[in-house]
Amino acid sequence: MISLEHISKSFDAPGRAPAEHALRDVSLTIPDGDVFGIIGISGAGKSTLVRCVNLLERPTSGRIVVDGQDVTDLQGAASRSYRRRVAMIFQGFGLLAQKTALQNVCFPFLAANGRVTEADRRHALELLDRVGLADKAGAYPSQLSGGQAQRVAIARALALDPEYILCDEATSALDPASTASVLDTLRQVNQETDVTMLVITHSMDVVKSICKDVAVLVRGKLVETGSVDEVFSNPQDPTTRALLGRGDWHE
Ligand SMILES: Nc1ncnc2c1ncn2[C@@H]1O[C@H](COP(=O)(O)OP(=O)(O)OP(=O)(O)O)[C@@H](O)[C@H]1O
Ligand SMILES: [Mg+2]
Repeated sequence: MISLEHISKSFDAPGRAPAEHALRDVSLTIPDGDVFGIIGISGAGKSTLVRCVNLLERPTSGRIVVDGQDVTDLQGAASRSYRRRVAMIFQGFGLLAQKTALQNVCFPFLAANGRVTEADRRHALELLDRVGLADKAGAYPSQLSGGQAQRVAIARALALDPEYILCDEATSALDPASTASVLDTLRQVNQETDVTMLVITHSMDVVKSICKDVAVLVRGKLVETGSVDEVFSNPQDPTTRALLGRGDWHE
């Protein structure tokens, strides 16, 4: 379980006027096994929030507690071992262009252990099979469609058996058919492995398609959170209504 407790983040730099906070007193809990959506328009603070969860950024104040452990200030080996439990998928896929799909999926083993064993390769092939790409093991990223490339990225994210997967606009660069294939894969992975997912998106359709719970972020503040059923059937905040295409934009 991931708990964000009163997280604020500002990017103030010395000698410059104070910037507006990217996150303002955000508290939320992501239960184990959940697919939790965070939705908001561009600049709302979504990426900053996921970057705080995997310690690429440190919050200015507040705590991040994972399975009872305060991870906010972890450094060195402790932060590396925490990061290994938390995999990340981005909009740009992040695949190595000079490596095959299989080599990309094996990369986390190389990074973690300095080598890739035969067992690692077998496991990577199983993961490619799980995302429906067993036949693409030898293909290079340039030979894959966007949806296939993202599914390779999902297989790679699963390599070290993470407890959490953070997806930052994982489908934003994709056409509708590829988006559907990636969302199907994420849904299936969640069901088969019980991995907990934090899904960052600006699309209500993505939330509706795979999320169980959702939080709405507006200019760094959480304005509404609840189950997707609740929030979609009875949105409380004007921004949520606007994102759902009901009512005017009031930001
Ligand atoms: N490294 C940084 N330095 C300074 N400001 C930053 C930095 N990263 C983000 N910000 C600011 O924080 C705010 C939130 O940015 P963030 O990238 O988290 O938004 P987002 O919701 O992910 O937007 P998008 O949908 O466009 O990806 C923005 O005002 C942005 O300019
Ligand atoms: Mg972003």
